[in-house]
Amino acid sequence: MLNTVIILIATLLVLVVLHVLDGAVKAMNERAGLPQGNGMRNTIRAVWVLLALVVAQFFIPADLFEPPPPQQAVYTTDSLWTGADTTRLAYLDDEQEELVRYGRELIRNTAHYLGPQGTVAQLTNGMNCQNCHLNAGTRPWGNNYGAVWSTYPKFRARSGGTETAAKRVNDCFERSLNGTALDTSGREMRAILAYMEWLSTGITHGDKAKGRGIVELAYLDRPADPGRGKVIYDGKCASCHGADGHGVELANSDAYQYPPLWGAHSYNEGAGLYRMSRFAGYVKANMPLGASWDSPLLSDEEAWDVAAYVNSQERPSKDLAGDWPDISKKPVDHPFGPFADTFPETQHKYGPYGPIAAYYKKP
Ligand code: HEC
Ligand code: HEC
Repeated sequence: MLNTVIILIATLLVLVVLHVLDGAVKAMNERAGLPQGNGMRNTIRAVWVLLALVVAQFFIPADLFEPPPPQQAVYTTDSLWTGADTTRLAYLDDEQEELVRYGRELIRNTAHYLGPQGTVAQLTNGMNCQNCHLNAGTRPWGNNYGAVWSTYPKFRARSGGTETAAKRVNDCFERSLNGTALDTSGREMRAILAYMEWLSTGITHGDKAKGRGIVELAYLDRPADPGRGKVIYDGKCASCHGADGHGVELANSDAYQYPPLWGAHSYNEGAGLYRMSRFAGYVKANMPLGASWDSPLLSDEEAWDVAAYVNSQERPSKDLAGDWPDISKKPVDHPFGPFADTFPETQHKYGPYGPIAAYYKKP
């Protein structure tokens, strides 16, 4: 609409200018006593200009004169959220764009900046956030960040208080990356939060994007079995993550090509993946590499059993004394007592979880 108005005004101006020129040429010719040429020449040109402008209108991008339309969240054909479109970063002002890009970079290459030989600080175990939050936290059911900016600050029973997004990010620093918390006022934290905020543009506060986080698998009616899990691990995981589960480091780099699943450089016992349901759900929709939520490569049973095998291996411990101040709020698969029920600790760790869930559902 604006385009059309601008073009009409421009056309009128051109017509007026040419008309005046026609008049001037005519007057000069008269004065010089020259014969009158075709006085219509400029008017004919004007008609061509008009036609050209009308045609050009169809080729001028609609947003040339207009501010960018508000950012919308991007969805797959199945309406699963995939994060904001990175081409839209260009619409941010320079300083903000740089901060958001740095945040995204920190999620993708955490080890380079903050790992054991990090260029900014040495805080973490060498893993990248992206190892677990796939595609920089945008992959449907790839443990993405689709419910972070829109739901924090929120109450979390693990800490028994209201948590900000910064606190939640630092939880992963201290647990998943078995490291030290970031200074919450430093540039790195500000960048990570700016990235998460930008990523969630278009999601109404309080909403949780469809495809966010990790898939919930149905419980098995038996305990998950580390023995069966080992067979699956050796056949379908060891080729990348290593028979010893320690992962494979990239040559000439302190980052991993294949991240560790257990051992000194893996997530610790306080991490989300140490809960069987988180591990099994993550793996079901994403592993072995190439699997996705809509074409998984493991059955639910295989996912639970391989989770049991991996999470029965050695890994760093963590003092969890402050967690779950109200023990009745512990999730059924939280593997450490005390519990507000009488089910044994091994059942909380490996299942079957159905009876525990039923116990807490009772009025
Ligand atoms: C070893 C795997 C792993 C790594 C590495 C990891 N995380 Fe996480 N993260 C998780 C799991 C598991 C959850 C919990 C998901 C759930 O409960 O559904 C989580 C949850 C989160 C959440 C909350 C998501 C929500 O919707 O509530 C944020 C924010 C987060 N991580 C940020 C980070 C950042 C930033 C890094 C890197 C510094 C990181 N994580 C590294 C596994 C990991
Ligand atoms: C073809 C190689 C490959 C195979 C096979 C594979 N993975 Fe992975 N896995 C990866 C890569 C690469 C990542 C990190 C992804 C990223 O950073 O984008 C990863 C990440 C993970 C993570 C999260 C990060 C961590 O280290 O804790 C888990 C858990 C995981 N894989 C489990 C498994 C399991 C279980 C299997 C077998 C069922 C498996 N993977 C098979 C390549 C593989």
